[in-house]
Amino acid sequence: MENIEELKQNLVAEIMAAADVKQLEDIRIAVLGKKGRITEMMKNLGSLSVEEKKEMGKGLNILKSEVENALNVQKDRLAEQELNARLSNEKIDVTLPGRPEVQGRIHPVSQIYEEVVAIFGQMGFEVAEGPDIEDQFHNFNALNMPANHPARQMQDTFYIPNPESSDFDDSFVVRTHTSPVQIRTMEKKQPPIRIIAPGRTYRSDYDATHTPMFHQVEGLVIDKTTTMANLKGCLYDFVKAFFELDEIPVRYRPSYFPFTEPSAEMDIGCLKTKTELKIGAGNDWLEILGCGMVHPNVLRAGGIDPDEYQGFAFGVGIDRLAMLKYGIPDLRTFFESDVRWLKHYGFNPLDMASMTGGLSNNGGAAR
Ligand code: PHE
Repeated sequence: MENIEELKQNLVAEIMAAADVKQLEDIRIAVLGKKGRITEMMKNLGSLSVEEKKEMGKGLNILKSEVENALNVQKDRLAEQELNARLSNEKIDVTLPGRPEVQGRIHPVSQIYEEVVAIFGQMGFEVAEGPDIEDQFHNFNALNMPANHPARQMQDTFYIPNPESSDFDDSFVVRTHTSPVQIRTMEKKQPPIRIIAPGRTYRSDYDATHTPMFHQVEGLVIDKTTTMANLKGCLYDFVKAFFELDEIPVRYRPSYFPFTEPSAEMDIGCLKTKTELKIGAGNDWLEILGCGMVHPNVLRAGGIDPDEYQGFAFGVGIDRLAMLKYGIPDLRTFFESDVRWLKHYGFNPLDMASMTGGLSNNGGAAR
């Protein structure tokens, strides 16, 4: 028995001194493997007398379980040590400045998106969303454009067949504007409503200022006493904040949209020369958005009583805003995924647009 005790002490000491998982496994095989030391001793039990066998067998069983126990304890210890070593090896200091040479750039459309959300967010607007693939009800009918309405021709629509119906009126569209989000919002909540809905829009058009996919931000405010004066004040504050100017001349021209009445287009003052476009000064005007008071039929289609509520809506092209603010001449280049273009016009990902920290203070490399 004595040598079993001695053997145990030696083995446990050896196990506890193992420096890594591999060494520990070698010890396990040498002791408990098919030809291991304890295994061999157990095999030899057969040659002993019944009395000796009993005593030796019991001793070996205890030895085996204690050795197994020590192996497990040491295994856990080594695993923890290895994990700690890895953690301290792979430690990163998140307070270190970024490395510009390996940094990606924020696309101007994403940048403008963030700027617009920051400005309207501070005015108390919530961000709403709707699907890119719309039914004709939300994209047209509910916006006071029933089938065969001539205004449907104002937009070159991409239609998508409906697999469940061959009736053209049942076909889907990729939304031609963000205005269907007005209806989806009214369906979900009662006034007061104050939302903006930025997102992708689609029309069959392609030249220097049009791409088949582009971006808009819709705005919608509905309450009991909302007026055109509120619309003008809100949009004036928006363009001043957006172009980062203290003053900016604006004018509203009467216009037509089926879903607003009255309707207007907003222009901002600018100076156009052969080589330059300067916003906020000069005798020229630049159209930047469409707007108006929500048509009673639209409120009705959204489940809101036009005798009780009224409101305004507007729609701005995000890509167009980016072209104007950052002097990018051709819209098609936005979506060509040319990394040199993105390096030139893109934004530092660590500079978040905010009303307190500055919208675009470290703006596009172009400026
Ligand atoms: N949906 C219009 C367009 O795409 C813009 C608009 C939105 C006009 C809301 C008025 C009110 O041209």
